[in-house]
Amino acid sequence: MGSRLARLLLLLCSCEYMSGVQAQLRANYYATSCPNVEQIAITQFIAGLAQNVLAPASMIRLAFHDCAVNGCDASILLNGGMNNTDEKLSARNLGIGNLNIIDGMKAAVERACPGVVSCSDLIVLAARDAVRLSGGPNVNLVFGRRDSKTASTAAASKQLPSLLN
Ligand code: HEM
Repeated sequence: MGSRLARLLLLLCSCEYMSGVQAQLRANYYATSCPNVEQIAITQFIAGLAQNVLAPASMIRLAFHDCAVNGCDASILLNGGMNNTDEKLSARNLGIGNLNIIDGMKAAVERACPGVVSCSDLIVLAARDAVRLSGGPNVNLVFGRRDSKTASTAAASKQLPSLLN
């Protein structure tokens, strides 16, 4: 992916309207509550890469597919909704994978700063690090996205692009 496209994706992920639940995004959002979050995240990413060298592509697509459906709110990660409404059940999300990278980041971040860092911030961080580890630019991020408690298969099918139309 070209570095301009990478920057565009990450800039879009930083817009307030793309942050899912209304949130004030700031570069220093975790400065006191979880100051090492970026270091912890990239360490986990590199550990995950050892298992699958294609993980950077998966993380870039994951950020796109999370943020394009009702903003960056980690709703794509939710499993087993009351009425089977997981976004992953949408055909548009076929091939979404390597989520163990996000699980590893979340587990490590929870050990360091319990209950502080949102999964939606971790998804955007993973996409940023994917670009960086693939030789692209290092894009500075803002943080403070909030996670959704609900997901919608129908919304994913409506808001994500299809190969067919
Ligand atoms: C019309 C728009 C798009 C369509 C129809 C589309 C569709 C697809 C499809 C069908 C795949 C293959 C999934 C698989 O077989 O596992 C894919 C992979 C991928 N897409 Fe898109 N995509 C679109 C836009 C984008 C955009 C804007 C980005 C980046 C921001 C992106 C990033 C990726 C990446 C990185 C992969 C590879 C993921 C992997 O190998 O794990 N796509 N896309």
